[in-house]
Amino acid sequence: MFIRPYQPEDRDAIYDICLRTGDSGEDASAQFQDPHLLGHVYAGPYLLLCPDLAFVLADEDGPAGYIIGTSDTVAFVAAYRRRWLPSLTASYPLPDHPPTNRQEQTLELLHHPERMLNPDVADYPAHLHIDLLPRAQGRGHGRALMTTFLNALRERGVPGVHLGVGAANLRAQAFYAKVGFHELHRDQHSLRFGMRL
Ligand SMILES: CC(C)(COP(=O)(O)OP(=O)(O)OC[C@H]1O[C@@H](n2cnc3c(N)ncnc32)[C@H](O)[C@@H]1OP(=O)(O)O)[C@@H](O)C(=O)NCCC(=O)NCCS
Repeated sequence: MFIRPYQPEDRDAIYDICLRTGDSGEDASAQFQDPHLLGHVYAGPYLLLCPDLAFVLADEDGPAGYIIGTSDTVAFVAAYRRRWLPSLTASYPLPDHPPTNRQEQTLELLHHPERMLNPDVADYPAHLHIDLLPRAQGRGHGRALMTTFLNALRERGVPGVHLGVGAANLRAQAFYAKVGFHELHRDQHSLRFGMRL
């Protein structure tokens, strides 16, 4: 396996990995009628708006993992509203009732990027998402992807980075602690971790 910069041809594979790891690290395919929706929230905007901070883990069978993110969450949210959301609003309207399933919850997330403006963005302005398929997990590749991404942030002079993780995803929580993140906030559904760079 090797790590390389993202290329536009990787987009479909990244969307697929996003879905196949999207249920607390497990396959979320069964939760979505539309297999692209989760990627439209957690992958597409980063690939469009921050392609220089997207890295792919691949082997001879193709991409097996990725790390993506932004160096500046506030600017990212503004760009998401301006350059990402308008292309999707017609195809993905908000339901006119409170969400009743994962697909509808994800539609809410798609339409509300300001949810990313948490109290920690001032001290930890960058944020990231990392996902590896099962065939790539547990062999040090997650740590290697993280090192690549953090070095790219340091080169840009970014002072800190944060991330969110579901309360049920204990494996990812252990991984983040092991690679140097500390807990910033927790509620019943999720935790936020941070690292000064
Ligand atoms: C979470 C994830 C990114 C970790 O990547 P990985 O390649 O499996 O982890 P690594 O093998 O690089 O492990 C790095 C370190 O974390 C530790 N670690 C990883 N999983 C752990 C666990 N469940 N418990 C304790 N430590 C763990 C490893 O022991 C290793 O420590 P070391 O380097 O000192 O030996 C990866 O498993 C994954 O993508 N899972 C599915 C998707 C997901 O949950 N993404 C996160 C969504 S918030």
